[in-house]
Amino acid sequence: MNNSTLQVVILAAGHGTRMRSALPKVLHPLGGIPILQHVIKTAAALQAKTHVIYGYGGEEVKAQLSHLEVNWIEQKHQQGTGHAVLQAMPFIAEDSQVLVLVGDIPLISLTTLQSLLSTIPEGAMGLVTANLDDPTGFGRILRDKQGRVTGIIEEKDATAMERAITEINTGIIAAPARYLNEWLPALTNNNAQKEYYLTDIISMAVTDKVPIITVSPEHREEVCGINDRSQLALLERYLQQRLTREYMLKGVTFMDPMRFDLRGNLEVGQDVVIDVNVVLEGQIFIGSNSTIGPNCVLRNAKIGNNVTIKDFSLLEDAEVADGCIIGPYARLRPGARLAKDVHIGNFVEVKNSDIGEHSKVNHLSYIGDTTIGREVNVGAGTITCNYDGVNKHRTVIEDYAFIGSDTQLVAPVTVGRGATIGAGSTITANAPEDALTISRARQQTIEGWRRPVKKEK
Ligand code: UD1
Ligand code: MG
Repeated sequence: MNNSTLQVVILAAGHGTRMRSALPKVLHPLGGIPILQHVIKTAAALQAKTHVIYGYGGEEVKAQLSHLEVNWIEQKHQQGTGHAVLQAMPFIAEDSQVLVLVGDIPLISLTTLQSLLSTIPEGAMGLVTANLDDPTGFGRILRDKQGRVTGIIEEKDATAMERAITEINTGIIAAPARYLNEWLPALTNNNAQKEYYLTDIISMAVTDKVPIITVSPEHREEVCGINDRSQLALLERYLQQRLTREYMLKGVTFMDPMRFDLRGNLEVGQDVVIDVNVVLEGQIFIGSNSTIGPNCVLRNAKIGNNVTIKDFSLLEDAEVADGCIIGPYARLRPGARLAKDVHIGNFVEVKNSDIGEHSKVNHLSYIGDTTIGREVNVGAGTITCNYDGVNKHRTVIEDYAFIGSDTQLVAPVTVGRGATIGAGSTITANAPEDALTISRARQQTIEGWRRPVKKEK
């Protein structure tokens, strides 16, 4: 690439009618983030200044992606791809290199774009083209006998012979700004669609003797556009395959890479094992030697080393330190923070609670707004009653306490260090350290009692 600054123009003003959706097409999620955000991310990786041409549903697009560093440019009337790029030119310095990307071709790779930019000699322009078995719908690349590009013909304007050409325009084009400033204002809309075609600049380049180079994408799917939900689903699977391949090379085992979904960012240690139908969303960290069982969902979770998460567990905004064992069927809700070697068993729900090292809550419990110390054992069916109908209150269970099964701890309440709570208690006042506190009716046996007998009629 030449040394001039790179400016990326992303075309995203089209309607996307074939999605049949109230949501603008480029906001539909792919791998958990909007389609358009993939393109913006790739442009950012090129360290380019990015301009997005928006139109239909644009305010919604801008609002959803307002955290991204791009220059939003409105194209009020969609008069074609050439007209769209022209809208960006007032924001682009004359000595820049311009790379045009397409908002609904989300998986174009950094490698392909870098290869395009590095192949273009000074003062030349470049295209990403691909050879397709079925080129229907695309603009076709015209070449002369020497193989030099002479133009692009849109399908709707092409002759039968031209339609037989299988090399297509992907829509990704790079050219120096100074040429675009000459060519774009000279475009006409004298064609089948009455649009100002960006592709018509190719024949202008030929007339001006500007060399045109082409590169092809590494993978065919990179240049697939999304027009409907079936194409969206195909690219989703392709993206997931690309991600699992990347993580397998980093030392992650997937029991079946085809049955895994990452919808966010994943950081992993070594020897992580992920079983089938696991969904990871948002920011996920998984430490070394940890195992995620089948059918688990993790949403913004931080998992330490040597953790086992068993089948069908759901973790959301939770932190799990080294050596913990979770599930099966556990639910960690926002603010669940588990210290080392904690065990959370089946049908246990933990919310906004800290659980200290080596503590265990193994069966059928609700722990909410609670601080649990170390080496505490919480028996089956224990409930922290944290809500009085108006306010939430905290439960504190100090180190080495033992909570008998089927206990209700009515917050605010503290169970002292080393205290024991008898099974079946309803604890409404603080339970002192190292003592047994019990609040159930004393058991009695009535001697000589007889069951009633059926009366004779
Ligand atoms: C375009 C290319 C075609 C190429 C194909 C690849 C032109 C004339 N044709 O055709 O050679 O094979 O893409 O997918 O460029 N857009 C705007 N404003 C507009 C019109 C379009 O922002 O006024 C955006 C659309 O949102 C879309 C992109 O530009 O993201 C391409 O437009 P589209 O109408 O899909 O062009 P195609 O007919 O597919
Ligand atoms: Mg298109």
